[in-house]
Amino acid sequence: MKIIVLAGGLSPERDVSLSSGALISNALIEKGHDVMLLDLYLGINNKHIEPAYINLKSNKTFSYLVPPEEPDLDAIKASVNNRGSLIGDGIIDLCKEADVVFLALHGSIGENGKLQAVLDINGIKYTGTGYVGSLLAMDKDLSKKLILSNNILTPHWKYVDLQTDTDFDDINYPCVVKPCSCGSSVGVTMVETPSELNSAIEFAKKYENSVIIEEKIVGREFSVGILNGEALPVIEIKPLIGFYDYKNKYQKGLTGEICPANISNEIRYLLQNSAVKVHNLLRLGFYSRIDFILDQSNNAYCLEANTLPGMTPTSLLPQEALANDITYSDLCEKIAFAI
Ligand code: DAL
Ligand code: MG
Repeated sequence: MKIIVLAGGLSPERDVSLSSGALISNALIEKGHDVMLLDLYLGINNKHIEPAYINLKSNKTFSYLVPPEEPDLDAIKASVNNRGSLIGDGIIDLCKEADVVFLALHGSIGENGKLQAVLDINGIKYTGTGYVGSLLAMDKDLSKKLILSNNILTPHWKYVDLQTDTDFDDINYPCVVKPCSCGSSVGVTMVETPSELNSAIEFAKKYENSVIIEEKIVGREFSVGILNGEALPVIEIKPLIGFYDYKNKYQKGLTGEICPANISNEIRYLLQNSAVKVHNLLRLGFYSRIDFILDQSNNAYCLEANTLPGMTPTSLLPQEALANDITYSDLCEKIAFAI
């Protein structure tokens, strides 16, 4: 099969995506496919966000380690402003030559449905979820409304447009401030007291003017991958220090990941069943990963759905698949074939 793996782009999760893209490409090459790994944003030449251009044809392997710190947002914004376009020249023409485009993108246009719509319009086949599900899942305010209206718990939240809303008197503490449509915990802060709210909002605003301020649920954190309509084994996430932020997600050894999680059959069923429901109600595609917090009374709160879950060396979905004897390269091939 001729497969183009699209990664990179100008999202805050650019580096994570390059890591996913490299591993996915290697895995598909190992399976004998003709693979080209492309940076969605061909043509960047900025020392902060290298490599600018990847054109990896079969029989090579590629490695890209995710740096422990979040990428330089100012450099990314400057690149957008300089070029004025979020898709590199010629990308769509190149994608038309592939049997399938494997989306290894995370965040912004790669994950929010915009790219999916462009690919649809051009008749290009791509992996994962279509544009409607991508849009619904990426917008935390919209997806939480749908989740709640389908009788699945999600932490209480307030949607705030920072350009017009200035009244935060009704917030309860502790809370969590999150950009409405980002991933990998970029821009997220745990806020324990009112005095910490302003700086948390300023931090989130670096990424987006739309934020959600969410009730902080104290409990155990779990994630459930969905593959071909079925839930994979549940994974428990235990950061050694603090919460599951960018550093704890991508630096090896900072978080305990236990799969299958040590939970009762009843809790496992609750999490897996809720995950399948969320996957379906948000119109997600062949695969996804749904994140939960379980409070001390065993109520499962859905935090969010991920349409393009990380495929990096520390990511959760590949570990869940492996617990079902699906290797990383088998997982990639299943995703590529399910178009
Ligand atoms: N947004 C990251 C890549 C994840 O969900 O794994
Ligand atoms: Mg996410």
